[in-house]
Amino acid sequence: MDQNEMKRQAAEAALEYVEVGTYIGVGTGSTANLFIDALATVKGKIEGTVASSVATAERLKSHGIPVFELNEVDGLSVYVDGADEANPNLQLIKGGGGALTREKIVAAASKRFICIADDTKLVDVLGTFPLPIEVIPMARSFIAREIVKLGGDPYLREGFTTDNGNLILDVHGLHINQPDVLEGTLNNIPGIVTNGIFSKQRAEVGLFGSTDGLKVLKPYEH
Ligand code: A5P
Repeated sequence: MDQNEMKRQAAEAALEYVEVGTYIGVGTGSTANLFIDALATVKGKIEGTVASSVATAERLKSHGIPVFELNEVDGLSVYVDGADEANPNLQLIKGGGGALTREKIVAAASKRFICIADDTKLVDVLGTFPLPIEVIPMARSFIAREIVKLGGDPYLREGFTTDNGNLILDVHGLHINQPDVLEGTLNNIPGIVTNGIFSKQRAEVGLFGSTDGLKVLKPYEH
């Protein structure tokens, strides 16, 4: 089974969490795209979706799945999205596709966050994947210096502008032992729009495709 099949395994398993007659949030990336394809087979069961990026909105619409602005709906029953890294507590690094800000907003507006990925994304400690940070363009150099003080090694993502008209710094060299703390510290630096640590917006359920079958993580269910 190749990596794409493992992603598909996770994406299709997420259909179980789609609640009939509700609005759902949809993430961004190759795994989220496979979820969109699966969602198309049950599209009559939901009221509609809120997309976390322009690319996701276009893919949803191409399948005839209704897309709404977040401002048009009262709330979302579930958010389904991939991740670049996930630790055993389902704290995540996201933003490899640069959609982290809208992803974090839609996740926060949803009752539950279901993370879908192949099991190569599972790690003990976050930080091997460079941490994406969306920044206001005029603050880029200032923020880069502040990140160096925190022990990170920031690189500007060349030739990339987010859906919000901002830039991405990819921060290498972080060993994120306390995701909650670093997420908050970064949020307090003026000019950072969003950082890619999803700890406050961590996932509730993790569905990880693997060659041995689907791995389901529910660290908060006892
Ligand atoms: C998009 O900005 C990201 O947060 C994605 O969710 C993440 O990069 C996972 O993408 P893949 O499913 O393509 O690995």
